Amino acid sequence: IIEKVRAREIFDSRGNPTIEADVILSDGSLGRAEVPSGASTGEREAVELRDGGSRLQGKGVSKAVNNVNTKINDALHGQSPFEQNKVDQTMIDLDGTSNKEKLGANAILGVSMATARAAAASQKVPLYRYLGGVDLELPQPFFNVINGGAHADSGIDVQEFLLTPVKRDSFRDGVEKVANIYHTLKTVLGKEGYETAVGDEGGFAPKLASTEAAIEMLYRAIKESGYKPGSEIAIALDPASSEFYSDESKKYSFEGKELSSEELLSYYQDLIKEYPAVISIEDGFSENDWDGFHKQTETMGKEIQLVGDDIFVTNPTIFKEGIEKGVANSILIKLNQIGTVSETIDTIKLARENGYTTMISHRSGETGDTFIADFAVAMNAGQIKTGSMARSERVEKYNQFLRIEEELEGKIPMAQFPK
Ligand code: PGA
Ligand code: ZN
Repeated sequence: IIEKVRAREIFDSRGNPTIEADVILSDGSLGRAEVPSGASTGEREAVELRDGGSRLQGKGVSKAVNNVNTKINDALHGQSPFEQNKVDQTMIDLDGTSNKEKLGANAILGVSMATARAAAASQKVPLYRYLGGVDLELPQPFFNVINGGAHADSGIDVQEFLLTPVKRDSFRDGVEKVANIYHTLKTVLGKEGYETAVGDEGGFAPKLASTEAAIEMLYRAIKESGYKPGSEIAIALDPASSEFYSDESKKYSFEGKELSSEELLSYYQDLIKEYPAVISIEDGFSENDWDGFHKQTETMGKEIQLVGDDIFVTNPTIFKEGIEKGVANSILIKLNQIGTVSETIDTIKLARENGYTTMISHRSGETGDTFIADFAVAMNAGQIKTGSMARSERVEKYNQFLRIEEELEGKIPMAQFPK
């Protein structure tokens, strides 16, 4: 049973305070989890409780820590760690708000993840096994190698340019291919006189003139590494377009132009015609432009994957509405957008029942915690994005997959997208 729940303020990969939670069981088992934090957050995400005031730019989480140490500790004391739903529901009820603003989604998620860890430790099984049982699968990884938008001062409007090894013999083989391209890309950028410093997610942040220029660089790096764009290494984009959409004018302020929803759609259509290696676009339309997202799904949804991130915020209720309205054919899954492990699993189930693919995701503000790697394997999520081949808070997740692959002696199946 749960003996004690406690938290502390630690720091994330951007130097901002975040929560680390411990769940201690009566048998002495410890579960510990660290909570990530986004920059281009969806408006309807569960609320990160921050202190305000002057300490640490107002970003302190001492109130959330205090909520864990007092209210949550009192409520969970004596409960079974093996009943994840009940533990999560206790915290949801204790909070009482729809967006977890009272206790803080950061406080609640830390405890939720730490509970799963403690339960796994008590049973002496790896987290992926505890959460997933016997039916396990390694996901298709997406590596964010060029950073723009809110994640870098590169001036590129598209936030993420990702590479995915569609042809790979193993997870390790996929990581090796992308590592090769990552280093080649650095050389290519350097030769052209661009900066090779990295952004928040470990991708390069060169001041490239356009989306096309960035994709051209990727094609070059893929080819110069000896691979074929499209059939071996594919490309995915996350424009995170809510960031450049105006709710007032209903226009997208993109690469110096003011585009209507229709114009942006034809831009994407031309883009995938010109670059057939692009197989997935996330948040191509704003979280406040459901109609635009729906039209994109109607016109492009048969050809490529269209991922909803800010628009669904991993929330089963909002996602249900999106399914009914025919928005996207894939959903990004971020635990801290909704705030508990159980609700995240509900959203994944909903996706599966409705033929949506799922991509587990890190946040741009991350920690050394590799929970999402185990989680992706346990959920048979199919896909994951967790940054580039640089910055340990990103690479550690890929390293965790290498460990899991080794532990399962290559017997674990690999998800393949596109099939
Ligand atoms: P965020 O970005 O973590 O800064 O919200 C990730 C994404 O948009 O996918
Ligand atoms: Zn996104």
